[in-house]
Amino acid sequence: MITIIVAIAENGAIGYKNELLYRISADLKRFKALTTGHTVLMGRKTFLSLPKGALPNRRNVVLTRDSSIQFEGAETFTSIDSVLASVREDEQLFIIGGAEIYKQTMAIADKLEVTLVHDVPSEADAYFPEITDEWKEVNREDFNSEESPAYSFITYSR
Ligand SMILES: NC(=O)c1ccc[n+]([C@@H]2O[C@H](COP(=O)([O-])OP(=O)(O)OC[C@H]3O[C@@H](n4cnc5c(N)ncnc54)[C@H](OP(=O)(O)O)[C@@H]3O)[C@@H](O)[C@H]2O)c1
Repeated sequence: MITIIVAIAENGAIGYKNELLYRISADLKRFKALTTGHTVLMGRKTFLSLPKGALPNRRNVVLTRDSSIQFEGAETFTSIDSVLASVREDEQLFIIGGAEIYKQTMAIADKLEVTLVHDVPSEADAYFPEITDEWKEVNREDFNSEESPAYSFITYSR
């Protein structure tokens, strides 16, 4: 099972200057609950944006085209195919960004776990690809919040 997990603003934006646009505590908790005990795949830039480095209690896999790069607590791979070849059949793979990695893995994902943030940020430089009609919404929960814009947890499958 390959799941893309992402927080997206209403205009498709997901980041600015190699940082997240929103820090919504319920979203961060959900991210942790869904991914803990499993494998997280990310691009080098997203790995470098993590405030405390590798995510604990998860197999951290980082994509870079520079085969000499190594990161503490993470395995590095130079292609998506080589990552897939290293994943066991019973392993759950969560693709956690960023924009470049989402774009290249939409075609191989089985599921999307989207946090849709009901806001348009004033500045952004990283965007999620279009969620086309082949994706069906299978679950949705809507939330209001005092500390952040309203948001929805939406699950899509093919
Ligand atoms: N909202 C969210 O849920 C969310 C989640 C994650 C990230 N983000 C945001 O997304 C932004 C970062 O996205 P980004 O697109 O700039 O960077 P990224 O996707 O995190 O990383 C890009 C890097 O990954 C490596 N790479 C890409 N494709 C590869 C391939 N096929 N094989 C091997 N290596 C490959 C390259 O590393 P090398 O240059 O080392 O070769 C490339 O520079 C940040 O703003 C971050 O905060 C948002």
